[in-house]
Amino acid sequence: MEESLDPDLSHETLIHDLNNVFETITEAAELLNSDRRWKLLAATLGRSVRRGKRLLGALPDGTPNLAAIVEDAIQSVNDYCVAARKPRLRWVRRVPADVRLPGSSKDWERVFVNLFLNTAQAVRRPGRIEIETERAQDTLVITISDNGPGIPAEILPGLFRPHVSTKADRSGRSGLGLHIVASIVKKYSGRVGAANRERGGGAIFTISLPVT
Ligand SMILES: Nc1ncnc2c1ncn2[C@@H]1O[C@H](COP(=O)(O)OP(=O)(O)O)[C@@H](O)[C@H]1O
Ligand SMILES: [Mg+2]
Repeated sequence: MEESLDPDLSHETLIHDLNNVFETITEAAELLNSDRRWKLLAATLGRSVRRGKRLLGALPDGTPNLAAIVEDAIQSVNDYCVAARKPRLRWVRRVPADVRLPGSSKDWERVFVNLFLNTAQAVRRPGRIEIETERAQDTLVITISDNGPGIPAEILPGLFRPHVSTKADRSGRSGLGLHIVASIVKKYSGRVGAANRERGGGAIFTISLPVT
């Protein structure tokens, strides 16, 4: 008789197998690290593996401090730019050191990585991205603006719906980044909006979060 598999283990077994994938990448990174020409790339791979493990829940979640999460997200996107041979972005941070976010830092890292990655992929000229916060009574407002081409007008109305994308990707997985952003912000009772800047062009994303 065939033994029935417990469907509740599907997440755990996925983590198990992905950890094996990470193990291979880690071993490869260690090999690269022994050659001084590849040390930077080895470090990039190491950070990407740690990020993957954090997302999987295989590493403990950090404290949800906004400035620290933004720094981790910037590091991830800088790593992407190096590996994908994209020009580096210039980051302008206007984030006080003591702003705490609700919930899990892993969730917020996904929010910022998705927003920053889109800028890295959209900008054509020397890219600049600015992260600002403003506290208005019991609302924290975080704005992320860039100097890229702006969001195409035809997709702006339904931008946060799944599979809305201008990227040609035959895997069918494009157009999920902003949906992930909106779902996480909603989970913490917040709102996210997108617009194009009137002066100077570029996109602007605004996250409003209730804070106690
Ligand atoms: N900062 C930005 N500048 C210009 N266009 C953007 C920006 N962010 C998002 N977009 C547009 O929104 C679309 C959807 O983004 P997203 O949901 O992350 O999916 P994907 O990146 O896979 O296309 C992108 O394809 C792009 O056209
Ligand atoms: Mg995206």
